[in-house]
Amino acid sequence: MEQLREAATPCYFYDLQLLRETLAAVRREVPENDPAFRVHYAVKANSNPRILGEMAAQGLGADCVSGGEIELAIAAGVPAGRIVFAGVGKTDEEIELALRAGIGCFNVESEPELLVINELAGRIGKKAPVALRVNPNIDAHTHHYITTGLEENKFGINLELLPGVLRVLKGLENLEFQGIHLHIGSQILTMEPYALLCERVAELQRTIEAEGLELKSINVGGGLGIDYENPDANPIPDFREYFSTFRRHMQLREGQTLHFELGRALVAQCGSLIARVLYVKEGTAKKFVIVDAGMTELIRPALYGAHHRIENLTSSEGEETYDVVGPVCESSDCFATDERLPLTHRGDLLALRSAGAYGEAMSSAYNCRHLRPTLYRN
Ligand code: LLP
Repeated sequence: MEQLREAATPCYFYDLQLLRETLAAVRREVPENDPAFRVHYAVKANSNPRILGEMAAQGLGADCVSGGEIELAIAAGVPAGRIVFAGVGKTDEEIELALRAGIGCFNVESEPELLVINELAGRIGKKAPVALRVNPNIDAHTHHYITTGLEENKFGINLELLPGVLRVLKGLENLEFQGIHLHIGSQILTMEPYALLCERVAELQRTIEAEGLELKSINVGGGLGIDYENPDANPIPDFREYFSTFRRHMQLREGQTLHFELGRALVAQCGSLIARVLYVKEGTAKKFVIVDAGMTELIRPALYGAHHRIENLTSSEGEETYDVVGPVCESSDCFATDERLPLTHRGDLLALRSAGAYGEAMSSAYNCRHLRPTLYRN
């Protein structure tokens, strides 16, 4: 923490040692040479090149949702064959980039997208590996903004439409069918939805085999949650429980591979947003701590009502209740209400913990604000 004292704020701080320990914990459950399980990193959670470099060094694949993410993953050393490209709205340019790079799989979300990929692959003279994203209609009991596997979502192909799409796919000669892709949501803390997902996959296997297609891979997405309230007590998610749920419930056929694409669980706990206290303002019923970071640097509280644990890195004396707010001209620019903190003063440094996932990656330049240089513990 010493290196943070003089930090130019607001900035992100990443503990790369914790990241390596987290990845080592994943590798204990799923070694790189595991015969069936393949772990990918969902780049959207954090596309910082040093973080991507750590993922590549561990042999993880990358789950990308844009041409930009594909380019970053390749630049960080992820082999193109371990990249999957997902998203409901892939542009022609992005599809071409991915085809030329030779990515491992397109996760296709609709019939019109299949037709476009087939046409572009034909023009380039390549066969495109494709998986169909299926909407499993499972409630992951998480925030409605981050639930993706329910029927009314824009993602994936609904179960009853699948046989028709499979028939179309069989007639497209520039596509190579790989398998299916499912994702049920994010910040999932119980294993029950994953066990249900395994049951759903068993039914899907039968539907697809009935169409005479062979399923080479099954991608079960990501979503494993983390402990936002106690990051120090639980810095590393329970990967044993997570992967063993799939080992127990998923009935893989001979030679099939099971793909995971974890984002938050890999990177959330290694990152903090560091902010400096500008003012402590007395209201009539409340005291406000006004910091130099806002929703522009960490939007999760404003967007999802998420709470990130806040620590005062400078003071530890006394205790007081504050609302911790940012400088942006929006009422939702508030990190926490009624937060218990040590007595806090102008100039104190605060850490907003568990901000390594969907923190910096979702930051914006609204109000012409800019993050200061990122700091690392190496
Ligand atoms: N695979 C797919 C198809 C996804 O849509 C997502 C996340 C992931 C994998 C990775 O999910 P994770 O393991 O990180 O839960 N911005 C929100 C989270 C949005 C998640 C979007 N999809 C937040 O800050 O909570």
